[in-house]
Amino acid sequence: MQVDVITIFPKMFAPVVGESILKRAQECGAVRIDVHDLRSYTHDKRKTVDDRPYGGGPGMVLKPEPVFEAVEAVEMKRHGRAKAAAKLSFAKASEQRRRECEIILMSPGGIRLTQTVAAQLSRLTHLMILCGHYEGVDERIRQALVDREVSIGDYVLTGGELPAMVLIDTVVRLIPGVVGHPQSTHDESFAKDLLEYPHYTRPPVFRGMAVPEALRCGDHQRVATWRSLQAVARTSRQ
Ligand code: ADE
Repeated sequence: MQVDVITIFPKMFAPVVGESILKRAQECGAVRIDVHDLRSYTHDKRKTVDDRPYGGGPGMVLKPEPVFEAVEAVEMKRHGRAKAAAKLSFAKASEQRRRECEIILMSPGGIRLTQTVAAQLSRLTHLMILCGHYEGVDERIRQALVDREVSIGDYVLTGGELPAMVLIDTVVRLIPGVVGHPQSTHDESFAKDLLEYPHYTRPPVFRGMAVPEALRCGDHQRVATWRSLQAVARTSRQ
C-alpha cells in the first residue's frame, strides 16, 4: 500500500511512522508512507495556506490552490498523467480508481473511524490523507477531491495530523503480513463486536494475584470456553 499524507506539519510524522510496527511494515515493503509539506505547493514568499472565509466569521480556511496542486502532484507521481488529468478536470474519481485509491480528509465532522472502516481502507492500494486545519477547508476541496471525511472521535483536535497517524496505524496493521500472527488481528477487540478476553503471562501468581486455572490446565476447549465467556462478560459491562 502507498500512503501519501499532505500536511502543514510534516515533521510531526517521523517519530510515529519511524517506530515499531509502522517502521517494520515499511522495511518489509508492505507499505510506503510519504509525507508532503503543503507549504511546498504555495507560490508566495510567506507560503500562505489559509485565508479569511467569504461572508466573514471567525477563524481561517485552508485555501484550495495549494491543496489541489499537492494532490495533483501526488496523483501524477503515483498514477501517471492520464488519471491525474481526470482530477484536473475536477471529475470525481472513476469507480475503478476509487476502489484502489481514496483521498481522505481528516475532519471532526467525518464518519467515525471504526475497525470496519479501517478494514475497508486496508484493502486499498493507495491512500491519500489530507490533514485539515483552522476552521476547515474550502468547500471546493471537498467537492472535487475528497472521497471521504474521517473523524477519530467526537472531539476537536488542533489539526488533522494526530488523527491521520491514528488512521495510518490502525489501517497498516491490518495489511496481511504486517502483524506477526494473522490470528491476532482477527481475535482482537471489535473484530467480532466483542471486547477482547483478558490475557495473562508468567508468573502464575504475581503479588497474590493468580492466573485463572482454566488457562493453565492445558485443555484447549476449556481455554476457548473461558475466553468466550470473559469476552461476553467484559462487553456487557461496558
Ligand atoms: N481534526 C480535528 N479534530 C479531528 C477529529 N476528531 N478527527 C479527525 N480530524 C480532526
